[in-house]
Amino acid sequence: MQEAIILVGGKGTRLRPLTNHTPKPLLGVAGTSFIRHQIAKLMDAGVTHVVFATSYLASLFEEEFKDFGESLDISYAVEEVPLGTGGAIRNAGRLLRGGPDDAVLVLNGDILSGLDLRAILGEHRRRAADVTLHLTRVPDPRAFGLVPTAEDGRVLSFLEKPRTAEEIVTDQINAGCYVFRRAVLDAIPGDREVSVEQETFPGLVATGHRVLGHITRGYWRDLGTPLAFVHGSADLVTGAATSPLVGPAGDALIHPTAVIDPGALVTGGSTIGPGAVIGPGAVVDRSIIGAGVTVGAGARLHDSVVDHDSTIGGDSLLRETVVGCHAHIGADNELPAQLRLSCGIRIPAQGVRVSGTATACSTVH
Ligand code: GTP
Repeated sequence: MQEAIILVGGKGTRLRPLTNHTPKPLLGVAGTSFIRHQIAKLMDAGVTHVVFATSYLASLFEEEFKDFGESLDISYAVEEVPLGTGGAIRNAGRLLRGGPDDAVLVLNGDILSGLDLRAILGEHRRRAADVTLHLTRVPDPRAFGLVPTAEDGRVLSFLEKPRTAEEIVTDQINAGCYVFRRAVLDAIPGDREVSVEQETFPGLVATGHRVLGHITRGYWRDLGTPLAFVHGSADLVTGAATSPLVGPAGDALIHPTAVIDPGALVTGGSTIGPGAVIGPGAVVDRSIIGAGVTVGAGARLHDSVVDHDSTIGGDSLLRETVVGCHAHIGADNELPAQLRLSCGIRIPAQGVRVSGTATACSTVH
């Protein structure tokens, strides 16, 4: 029996307002919730029992999977107060069914990667490791903690984000997927907040445990920020990333109940949700359009997410914008990049412009 834990208890603050009502792993990515892509991948790797380590909006996970008919057992380890990544792993470990030497897969609930799960499990067993960490090699490691390894793959240390060029001693970073020997996992304190990255792993290395790196260079993306989130979704649609739940690669994934005007352009791996309406001349590029959203004629959206039941007025321009649910952006708005618009907000027509083409003053002087 192969078991896995998925860490899904975080608040997802960097993705607000999308995560105001929906935990990050339940947000729609390439047409289905991200956690379903992960589960499909786990099942392909032979996992038969998965424990969700939940905390924030925990009941929504049970709701999502109440009718799950696949051959996978799902258990829920709910934290009344968030225990951090390490505490969450130990707490979820209570519900595992295997023995002390069994290998347990642990996944962060927000990482999209091309990692071969059978390969990391195989390496962990072959090398009799205590913990095997997936390490990915990135072109620019400055934004990450670094994980140098010895020639035999043993992890040497866990270093803070580098501040100088000299501190960039490797391009390997923690990729958010681990295999634990169960007994090692059971030894993490489960009654207080513990960070697996900052406390558990450095502690295991310091005490001489066999902590190994499984190093890859393939597709890897942390979907924790809005831009990474839309790009990850688009990558699944265009085939740059793969999931057992996404069909042949294409330019867009359009729900059968969405209505796209023949004069609209939906491209770049965009996803259009159920009941959405895209008007004539509109451009939706590398974006996620939620259920029941209306995009008016001539509106242009690039690298943006629009949550369900919102309206984008005609000829408006959005770049790298996150729009909460039930929002209304009137016509002819030109929003500065990287805005986050709260759920239910209303911006009148011609209310916001970046360029110098503001309309005439409509007040009486
Ligand atoms: P931000 O608030 O935007 O940083 O997102 P986050 O809350 O998801 O935090 P982060 O991206 O650092 O978390 C990495 C993974 O660990 C995610 O899958 C989270 O759901 C999960 N996670 C973080 N903290 C906890 C926790 O206290 N308990 C549980 N069960 N999971 C957690």
